[in-house]
Amino acid sequence: MGTQQSHVYAPPMARALVTRPLPDGWLDPLAAAGHEAEWLDPEPLTHQRLVAEIGRYDALICTITDRVDEAVLDAGAGRVRVVGNIGVGYDNIDVGAAAARGIAVCNTPGVLDETTADLAFLLLLAASRRSSGAEATLRNGEWHGFRIDQFLGVDVHGATLGIVGFGRIGQAMARRAAGFGMNVLHHSRHDTGREGYVANLDELLARVDAVSLHVPLTDETRGLIDARRLRLMKDHAVLVNTARGPVVDEEALAVALEDGVIFAAGIDVYEREPQVHPRLLTAPHAVLLPHIGSASEATRRRMGRLACEGAVAVLAGEQPPNLVTP
Ligand code: DGY
Repeated sequence: MGTQQSHVYAPPMARALVTRPLPDGWLDPLAAAGHEAEWLDPEPLTHQRLVAEIGRYDALICTITDRVDEAVLDAGAGRVRVVGNIGVGYDNIDVGAAAARGIAVCNTPGVLDETTADLAFLLLLAASRRSSGAEATLRNGEWHGFRIDQFLGVDVHGATLGIVGFGRIGQAMARRAAGFGMNVLHHSRHDTGREGYVANLDELLARVDAVSLHVPLTDETRGLIDARRLRLMKDHAVLVNTARGPVVDEEALAVALEDGVIFAAGIDVYEREPQVHPRLLTAPHAVLLPHIGSASEATRRRMGRLACEGAVAVLAGEQPPNLVTP
């Protein structure tokens, strides 16, 4: 009887280009699968350098500030098999162009919902209660003691919140609102069949005391909240945006705050990051944060790993659950 030989198939090691240095542990799935992950510079790669370097790699691990357009994809075509985007939003990537070149794109859905909803709720509370302006007054030495009529805000409890975009993060926001005794309505493109669904966005905006945006950036949602829609909102309303900056017309928002068309805004994302419209910087009752919606250590680590897991699956010829290319 001859000896039986077993052959364990080991997929060839791949090389992944990471667009910036990342903390320990974030890229573990690549190493665990026997792949090599490499970043080139202490600073994030410029677009030009990304184009120049990507052709030497099988995978790209990037974040939402890396523009992965046709130039990058052309330079990687033929070798690069997957782009793992550390972010749930992937409007930084030309997904159609990637698919056309046989390059898979993966994102990081699901792992950042609660953390992002925490921040959206923080913005709702902070904007409603004017906490940034009040703290600035104290820090600037301009607080001269308790005053019965100072920093009057609007109540969050008992108010009606309108959630625009009722995916995972929108639903996580709804859970928080319920815990604060808010009434919750929601709008999305498709009827959710859930209680509180309002089919018409304009109607929702007119009915609620606060609005929180949770839609992806697409051609349909660009400029969704413009001057006309801001005017539909109540004059004590608060707008929260943790989705994408271009969903809101920033200048129109600044004007609405200046003119008292709405009461306050809590904003984490901007039309031209890292630039912020100068009028928004000086507009009253605006709480402005620098795109930190998912920025907890645990969540960002989970996002890094999930992007890598997607890449590992594609490199192994498997279908990852977080694939966004058709
Ligand atoms: C995303 O994931 O799209 C956020 O904007 C960054 O975490």
